[in-house]
Amino acid sequence: MNINFTYLPGDGIGPEVGLAALTVLNATAHTFGHTLEIEEHLIGGAAIDACGTTLPSNTLTSAKRTGAILLGAVGGPKWDHLKGSDRPELGGLLKLRKDLELFANVRPAKPFAGLIASSPLKPEYLEGVDFVVVRELTGGIYFGDKGRDKSQKNNQSAYDECRYSELEIERISHRAFEMAGTRRSKVTSVDKSNVLETSRLWREVVTRVAKDYPDVELEHTLVDAMAMHMLTRPRDFDVILTENMFGDILTDEASMLCGSMGVIPSASLGAGRTGMYEPIHGSAPDIAGQGKANPIAMILSAAWMLRTSFELEREASAIESAVEAALGAGRVSGDLGGSLSTQDVGANIGEWVANNVNP
Ligand code: NAD
Ligand code: IPM
Ligand code: MN
Repeated sequence: MNINFTYLPGDGIGPEVGLAALTVLNATAHTFGHTLEIEEHLIGGAAIDACGTTLPSNTLTSAKRTGAILLGAVGGPKWDHLKGSDRPELGGLLKLRKDLELFANVRPAKPFAGLIASSPLKPEYLEGVDFVVVRELTGGIYFGDKGRDKSQKNNQSAYDECRYSELEIERISHRAFEMAGTRRSKVTSVDKSNVLETSRLWREVVTRVAKDYPDVELEHTLVDAMAMHMLTRPRDFDVILTENMFGDILTDEASMLCGSMGVIPSASLGAGRTGMYEPIHGSAPDIAGQGKANPIAMILSAAWMLRTSFELEREASAIESAVEAALGAGRVSGDLGGSLSTQDVGANIGEWVANNVNP
């Protein structure tokens, strides 16, 4: 088939992990007899530099037309002086998620056997860990009114409004319960309902939605305690449902159960068929341009795109098997204790697909 997707490398290590993922996609397409039709476009800081805007209209048009987007990362110190929607993060990534109505971001935490030793946690805590975080992606404090109030002389204040509607909570809750139904039938909803009104509404709505899923167990947890439980008893969780900012923070923490930020992919989905696939890590300016970045999160995101947007299950599984083989053999980058460059990790995984998969 013709695999037509929008490729947004972005900033920092984005283009590096992106190139490695394209190597793997090319090898996979060749092995299975598909063609790739890649529409590469600018977003974030790279778009600001090239055309003075965070999300050029042809980027958005391509994303909407293909409905399948593979994104690296945006942002970096060069653009950190910018404010509000002039920033790569707000005007680029958040605007794209919002315009495409990708309200559900799914982030898995299932440590690969070959990576248990790379985690700072003791191995006995990690055996059998397998949960997904379903993070609300287009609401909450990220998208509320924000600004500065300078009415008080010499004492300005700043504000970020956090707002959630019942509808926004309902649709993300349904996603979490549906997903739990295909897994171990447990949803842990995370909020801060002892303090926040949005969290109290969150808890009410999640409890109501749960009634539609009598076979799924629901528990509520406060986010501060959840940050601890995730380290002390990560095995107990199946689907973790939470709002935008809590999900952002908890998933960086969850990545440490899996050995590195550089191995966690994500899928951002909406009500329709459009899907954006993005590693959870950022542009990593501290290692950008040095060939040190781990491309596995991006490669697994590409596999997820094949599975979800193109229904290419065998192709996606082939890539995942190749990743497991690379991890098992220590053909990995420095963050996982290996010595391979970003592009060599990608080339090895691509070769494994070409040499070991019988289409
Ligand atoms: P980061 O995720 O970029 O990096 C955090 C740490 O993890 C760094 O030490 C980095 O070197 C390491 N790391 C991240 N990805 C890695 C990989 N693939 N391989 C090896 N090591 C990796 O977070 P940060 O430093 O807080 O943010 C840097 C910039 O990225 C900021 O501008 C931020 O806004 C942006 N950001 C973008 C996204 C995105 O586009 N999805 C996500 C997070 C952060
Ligand atoms: C992520 C990132 C983004 C977020 C930033 C870059 C806006 O941290 O995808 O996890 O907070 O959603
Ligand atoms: Mn994040």
